Amino acid sequence: MIDSPFERAAAAAAFLQDRTSLRPRVAVVLGSGLGGIADHVADRVEIPFDDLPGFPAPTVPGHAGKFVVGTLLGTTVLLQCGRVHYYEGHDFETVMLPPRTLAAFGIQTALFTNAAGGLDPAMRPGDIMIVEDHINLLGANPLRGAHDGRLGARFVDLSTAYDHAVVGVLLDAGSRVGIPLRRGVYVAVSGPSYETPAEVRMLRALGADAVGMSTVPEVIAARQRGLRVGALSLITNRAAGLAGEPLSHAEVEREAKRATVAIGNLVAEALPALDQLG
Ligand code: HPA
Repeated sequence: MIDSPFERAAAAAAFLQDRTSLRPRVAVVLGSGLGGIADHVADRVEIPFDDLPGFPAPTVPGHAGKFVVGTLLGTTVLLQCGRVHYYEGHDFETVMLPPRTLAAFGIQTALFTNAAGGLDPAMRPGDIMIVEDHINLLGANPLRGAHDGRLGARFVDLSTAYDHAVVGVLLDAGSRVGIPLRRGVYVAVSGPSYETPAEVRMLRALGADAVGMSTVPEVIAARQRGLRVGALSLITNRAAGLAGEPLSHAEVEREAKRATVAIGNLVAEALPALDQLG
């Protein structure tokens, strides 16, 4: 099984290990427009996805497509700038390659970030939501297909997919740096079109607080490998129909850039404690 998902991730991780002697325990995956945090990483080694065997180049503006390994205020960290989305046409195996690579590299805790539309009418652009649970509306489970026991369980438990200790660390960090944090449920849809107002009403009725087009397959892959997982949604817009204005990716990117400093401060503040979770 030379090209099996397990071996693809192992090959990519071996490549990363060749490029840096650092062995971070924490990874932060930076979504649309949030990659700016990487500029603050000291002694950094940057490894573009292009260089990694089996990795596709991201096609979305605002997604740089690289791993950055270094230290952020003294804590060794791996940042993943950009991700692979299902809506780009990749199969789930490719979407799950980066988190599986993180696991093979030795990462123990992964914090995913994403841009999302606010479904909760109280949410405003710029709000940050700690994801406490998710709903998968991508149309299929990403683990559907042949099973390789080296990746973990066939039937992955998701009853505490979003680790309580990580939520606690993020809440503490938020209160120390003065960033109020919401908590809620993230629903993943396939995109790339945004939702209709009727779909937004449906998603809200289903119990979701924020809607986006990523994270869920990565979280499932990471949980299968036993990683501790946390996620933050940056609310870049009110979901379709709630604000009375059309949605655009430019707006999503603009809001994300504006929030980069806040998310960066929050992540930097949380990192030492995330690192200690082991
Ligand atoms: N819907 C889906 N994905 C998104 C949105 C949205 O409103 N905003 C940012 N990503």
